[in-house]
Amino acid sequence: MSRKIMSEEIYEAAKNVPELSPNTTQLLQITSRDDYEMQDVIDLVKYDSALTSQVLKVANSVALSGIKQISSIDRAVLYLGQRMVTTIALTEVAYQFFDRDLPGYNAETGELWAHDLRTAVASREVAKSVDFEINADMAFTAGLLHDFGKAVISDYLLDVSPELLQKVQGHFQGDFLEGERDLLGVDHAQVGHMVAQSWSLPGSLEMSIRHHHAPGEAPRAFQPLVYIVHMGDILAMLAGSGTGIDTLHYYLDRDYESYFILSFDQVASIMLNMNEEFDRIRSIFAGA
Ligand SMILES: [Fe+2]
Ligand SMILES: [Fe+2]
Repeated sequence: MSRKIMSEEIYEAAKNVPELSPNTTQLLQITSRDDYEMQDVIDLVKYDSALTSQVLKVANSVALSGIKQISSIDRAVLYLGQRMVTTIALTEVAYQFFDRDLPGYNAETGELWAHDLRTAVASREVAKSVDFEINADMAFTAGLLHDFGKAVISDYLLDVSPELLQKVQGHFQGDFLEGERDLLGVDHAQVGHMVAQSWSLPGSLEMSIRHHHAPGEAPRAFQPLVYIVHMGDILAMLAGSGTGIDTLHYYLDRDYESYFILSFDQVASIMLNMNEEFDRIRSIFAGA
């Protein structure tokens, strides 16, 4: 199949991904603003019965024993925090979309979700370490969503992945992303970007997905966040959490240093927090 036909088929597949619920889209839009109020999140959850029951279920599953049942949605949202509510809202679509194997990357079921969640936590930790104002919760959500183009592209990669791997390990002057483009006509960041547009995600999330491997190509206003997600992604891979054959076959854009510097101690602490928080969130979802 020619690259052109292949990329057209992939774009067609990207149009058929499950839709986000309107409330989830609104939640992502509200929380992408720097000045949002927790009350806005509470109001949104209140008027979505499916989300209300999920949030209460998760809040009660993590409430320390001895705490009375959490029955009010206000208390549940405040108890869990915006980040957790966003993760819950995304979970429904996430399970259809992320929690599958990626045969083209040789990744088992759960690896993509685990990599995305680790990237989310690492991105938030990096955001908390930098010395400029940035919405750390937005960095978390951007990390959670950064690689979902892989779920679309994986099946198309299956036939060409041995060739692609040989390329990036050999004399090919490019990373895995360029390899995808070379063989399929399109890469997972471009496909993810297309899905982000069809989901009407806020610009900050759209740009993080589109440019997470080449943050210098993002519009200037979005670069601080995109460099943070770029770093979060690399740290997740360095911690051993990738999505199969492409792991660590990407470049680190050294220009991140024009936005932030991380000391060895900071990296060590980010990696530690990443693993602890990953285990915590995973156990919450396993128990809910
Ligand atoms: Fe990626
Ligand atoms: Fe990634």
